Amino acid sequence: MNSKGLAVWSCCLLLFVWVECQKETVSKATEKKLMKEPKARETKLSKVTGQKTEEGTPKKSQVKPTVVSGQGQPSMSILTRAVAKGKFQKVSDTLVLKAGETLDLRCKGKAIKWRYPLYLEDDDVERRLRIKHFERHSQLIVLNSTAADTGEYSCWSFQCHDSECHDGEDRQGQTYIFFTDPQELFVPTENYYEVIQMRTNHPTLLPCQVTDPRAKVTLHREFPPEKVPVDGINISYNVKRGFTIHRPHPSYAGSLYCMANMNRVRQISTKYMLIYVNYPSSVPKPAVRASSALFQIGDNFNVTCTVFGEPEIAVDFTWEYPGQQMGRPPYVRERADLVRHGGQVRKESESILYIDEARAVDDGLYHCTAENLQGTTTVSTRIRLLPTTPSPKKTRIL
Ligand SMILES: *[C@@H]1O[C@H](CO)[C@@H](O)[C@H](O)[C@H]1NC(C)=O
Ligand SMILES: *[C@@H]1O[C@H](CO)[C@@H](O)[C@H](O)[C@H]1NC(C)=O
Ligand SMILES: *[C@@H]1O[C@H](CO)[C@@H](O)[C@H](O)[C@H]1NC(C)=O
Repeated sequence: MNSKGLAVWSCCLLLFVWVECQKETVSKATEKKLMKEPKARETKLSKVTGQKTEEGTPKKSQVKPTVVSGQGQPSMSILTRAVAKGKFQKVSDTLVLKAGETLDLRCKGKAIKWRYPLYLEDDDVERRLRIKHFERHSQLIVLNSTAADTGEYSCWSFQCHDSECHDGEDRQGQTYIFFTDPQELFVPTENYYEVIQMRTNHPTLLPCQVTDPRAKVTLHREFPPEKVPVDGINISYNVKRGFTIHRPHPSYAGSLYCMANMNRVRQISTKYMLIYVNYPSSVPKPAVRASSALFQIGDNFNVTCTVFGEPEIAVDFTWEYPGQQMGRPPYVRERADLVRHGGQVRKESESILYIDEARAVDDGLYHCTAENLQGTTTVSTRIRLLPTTPSPKKTRIL
């Protein structure tokens, strides 16, 4: 399927899902959060547009999310939490607080940056988040916390010399905070279903984060209703991230959801529409050749662009050629065949550009651009008009 086909197909699927969702009684949990949170907590994923998933743009770009190492808490964490007036506690890897509590974190250092769940940047959160910088530390407060504030909180110090700033990589603190709410076992999200592309050779995450690490979470398929086995190898579960499908396979495609059980409360997560996408391992590597590098006025010639690639992968071709602006009629033919290539089955995709009754304007560079879901590559070849030589007859006579 090419990207256009995929887009059309996805639209049909979305329509189908929409109809199905209308029929169903929507789970309490998700219905509630739809009303409570008009803006996405994390606006990632969801939109299948051929190859690109549209990223939510964080509004506060000055807090640039640099990579803070997730593994191994640095021995000297600069992050503490106020537990009572004037009383501070080093925070560990994970904190479990009750929704409604006030979170009060301190980070030591002169210049501090914070990172916290994107959801807190939302204006609709009514400024429950407060950050104050002091001379020797910075303070992050979350008032009236909710289950939706669950996530990773980190801070790191940076130094600036002559308008250049560097992160002090050794000076950082990080913790994952659960805000437990017996009514919200899953961290609320905006949508009651999410479309997720499952790509060949890419692990796929079903981000059903829980608000309480003690909840028992299972993975389920909607049609036919069945529990999906989680073996820790093909599919694994992480209490902070959700389920990861490590080896995507078309058989996993369809509608899946997570179910959390705790103290006889049972809730289901957002539904995930998994679409399997044959994803190329690399960008196409086209080769271009002309039937002749030289032509004379009135000649016919053609230029062929060829890509060898994985059998399931579609390649789109586009041409740029000298006569284009003059409105030279583009006559292009495309074909694709499976061929054996060094003992492997490969797909040979080809686009042929035909130039009939060549004119002077056809002299120049011919560019072929081949595109797949990983990207594009352009290759070119030059085709020249043969210079008109002095008539050979005359030369012979002399
Ligand atoms: C926090 O909750 C209290 C009590 O419900 C309310 O009066 C206050 O306005 C809330 N503060 C914020 C910043 O939402
Ligand atoms: C894991 O995936 C492999 C390959 O797809 C399959 O053979 C195996 O049965 C799977 N294991 C489980 C427990 O599903
Ligand atoms: C391209 O042009 C050459 C020379 O005119 C011709 O022999 C060849 O068959 C053409 N190739 C295709 C694919 O039409």
